[in-house]
Amino acid sequence: MEKIRVELGERSYNIFIGRGLLKEIAKTIRRFDFSSKIALISNPTVYGFYGKEVSAAIRASGHDLIEVLIPDGEEYKSLADTEKIYRALLEAKLDRRSALIALGGGVIGDITGFAAATYMRGIDFIQVPTTLLAQVDSSVGGKTGVNHPLGKNMIGAFWQPRLVWIDTATLETLPRREFLSGLSEVIKYGVMWDEKFFAYLDANRDKILSLDPAALTYLIKRSCEIKSEVVSKDERESGLRAILNFGHTIGHAIETITGYKKYLHGEAVAVGMYMEARLSHQLGFIDNKTVARIKALIDSFELPSEMPDEIEMDNLLEKMQLDKKTVSGRMHFVLPEAVGSVKIHSETTKEDIVKLAE
Ligand SMILES: NC(=O)c1ccc[n+]([C@@H]2O[C@H](COP(=O)([O-])OP(=O)(O)OC[C@H]3O[C@@H](n4cnc5c(N)ncnc54)[C@H](O)[C@@H]3O)[C@@H](O)[C@H]2O)c1
Repeated sequence: MEKIRVELGERSYNIFIGRGLLKEIAKTIRRFDFSSKIALISNPTVYGFYGKEVSAAIRASGHDLIEVLIPDGEEYKSLADTEKIYRALLEAKLDRRSALIALGGGVIGDITGFAAATYMRGIDFIQVPTTLLAQVDSSVGGKTGVNHPLGKNMIGAFWQPRLVWIDTATLETLPRREFLSGLSEVIKYGVMWDEKFFAYLDANRDKILSLDPAALTYLIKRSCEIKSEVVSKDERESGLRAILNFGHTIGHAIETITGYKKYLHGEAVAVGMYMEARLSHQLGFIDNKTVARIKALIDSFELPSEMPDEIEMDNLLEKMQLDKKTVSGRMHFVLPEAVGSVKIHSETTKEDIVKLAE
C-alpha cells in the first residue's frame, strides 16, 4: 500500500493506494472520530460492483450506514440530486460529526463533496474513487460541485476530503474507453511536470494497458503526488494550480461544441494537449520534435489527438473567448516549454488560433 500526504495545514489528508483496499475500508474509518451515522453515496453501476462489500464492512464495524444512490450520468451531478442527498441525510438524522463516503467516479465524488461542504455548514467526507480519472485527478484537490443548466461545474465549493482511499482493482471493471480517457490526465502530468514520468509511461505502455497492478499503483501514485504538490502550493487556484489546465482550454471548448456527448473528458483533453503543444511550437516555445513526442505518447495510448473535422475554428474561438480567463481578447493558455515543464502564456491572439487550422 502506498501513502501520499497532501499538505494543506489543518486540512491535510492522506491518499492510500493499493490493490484490494476496499475490504480494509472499515478499519481506516474507525480511526476517525466520526459519529455512528455515516452515508455511502454511489450510483447503481458502481454500487452493483462494490457497494454491498463496502456497506457490509462499514456496518460490521458498528456504524449505522445509510445508502444514497444517484442515477448514473453527468446530468445527475445537479442541484436537484444534491437536494435528494440532503433529504436522505436529514431523514436519517446525520449530524455534524457524520461523514459521507463517495464511492464512484468523478460525478459521485464531486456531488458528494459538495453535499458534504454544505450539509450543516460542512461535514467530513471520504473519497473512494473507482475510475482512473477520479483516482488520478478529481478525488484529490478539494474542488467539489455540481452543474447548472447554464454551465458545467458552475456551483461548487473548495472542500477537502479527510481521506482518499484508492483500490486499483476497481479499474478491472471499468469500461476500457473510460480507462483510456483517464490516462489522458496521467499523460498531462508527465508533460506539465515530470519528464521522467513521461518516459516511464512511454516505456511501460503495454503493462499499463494490460492493467498490471504494479504499473497502475505507480502511475496513480505519481499522478497524485504531482497533483498534491501543485494543490499544496495553490489550493484555490490563484496562480500555479492553473497549470493543471494544460490541454483543457481547447479540450473544454471541444466538449462544449460537441455537447459533452461525442467525447469523454480525457479524449477532448488529449486533442487539446496536442493542439496546445502545436500552438506552443507556433509561438516558438518548443521545437517540432517535442510536439511529435507528445503526440506519439497520446496516440500510443489509443487516444485521439487530431482536431475533429466537424469543429470549425470560428466556433472553437468563440467558445474559448467566452472563457472567464480571456481578458481583452487575449487568451490564457498553459503551454509546454519542454516535456516536463509548462508556462502560462496570456497573450494568445485569435490569429494564433486560426493559424492552427492551416
Ligand atoms: N473535482 C475535480 O477536480 C474534477 C477534476 C476532473 C473532473 N471532474 C469531474 O469528474 C466527472 C467525470 O468523472 P469520471 O470520468 O470519473 O466519470 P463518471 O463518474 O461519470 O464515471 C464514468 C462511468 O464509469 C462508471 N464507473 C465508475 N467506476 C466504475 C468501475 N470501477 N467499474 C465500472 N464502471 C465504473 C460510472 O458509473 C460511469 O458510468 C465530471 O463531472 C468532471 O467535471 C472533477
